Amino acid sequence: MAQPRIILDNVCVARVGRADRPLPVLNHVSLAFGKREIVALVGHNGAGKTTLARTILGLYPLTEGCITYEGTPIRELSPGKIQMVFQPPSAQLIGQTIFEELALTALQRNSAITRAQLDVFVQHYADMVQLTVPIETSVYELSGGQLQRLCIAQALASGAKVLLFDESFAPLDDEARTALRKQLRTLAERHALTIVLITHDMEDVLIADRVVILDAGEVRLATDPQTFFYGEHGQTPRCATWGFRPPYIVDAALAANHRFGLSMRPLSEEELVEELLHVYALSH
Ligand SMILES: Nc1ncnc2c1ncn2[C@@H]1O[C@H](COP(=O)(O)OP(=O)(O)OP(=O)(O)O)[C@@H](O)[C@H]1O
Ligand SMILES: [Mg+2]
Repeated sequence: MAQPRIILDNVCVARVGRADRPLPVLNHVSLAFGKREIVALVGHNGAGKTTLARTILGLYPLTEGCITYEGTPIRELSPGKIQMVFQPPSAQLIGQTIFEELALTALQRNSAITRAQLDVFVQHYADMVQLTVPIETSVYELSGGQLQRLCIAQALASGAKVLLFDESFAPLDDEARTALRKQLRTLAERHALTIVLITHDMEDVLIADRVVILDAGEVRLATDPQTFFYGEHGQTPRCATWGFRPPYIVDAALAANHRFGLSMRPLSEEELVEELLHVYALSH
């Protein structure tokens, strides 16, 4: 794995105010998240995914274990290193307009920023999430998807090294989702970010380096997307055994494998087309 940044060691979090149901919400979770790494965190409703992200953010007390950021316990961490896009995302907004929201983020990073630099900064991050409405637009006039884009832009603009997205792409249209996935990969590489995508959308898993399944507060699997979707040694893929619907690329590849006796394991449309063309060229 990439150089670790966040390490969860044997982390337990108890259910708040439920003495009648003593089950912990997180049960002995040990995980590491690396630099330049995108991790997809999946699991059924109530598995503990949001709790895990909020725990990394330091919002819940641990009943056991510890979490460190590059060796420092997270409770001793200076603010701004870890950023989460909450549900509902509007909970994190401070500004009245798109400009204000992103300008406040810029000023937190650099209080000496000039007005001209501020304009460039705001436009850069608005463009990154394809927020095409005028930047003076009030946040109260934005649609759900536009609001979500603003919150994602704010997180990307924050300069945090760890970004936690809690089903943040769900309200976006297909085009925005696809564009953002590409952006995340580029940003993770360029700024050595650690990105955690909590998601029910298996298309998100395609761009991840690793996929982690959480179930009843426990890590049940941590593997690479190829193994997750295509299995190994002829075994049923874990994606299927856990009841997640695979992305269409995986469905298409499995259908072609079955029909033509192939063993393709593509994770993108480009890869799928390339492999099919290769097989076609070989057979002619
Ligand atoms: N503040 C809280 N107090 C008590 N129990 C909680 C609290 N927040 C969550 N839980 C419980 O913890 C468990 C995990 O919830 P969590 O929201 O982390 O799941 P999730 O994996 O994010 O689910 P979803 O996919 O529905 O968002 C659930 O059983 C939930 O009822
Ligand atoms: Mg959740």
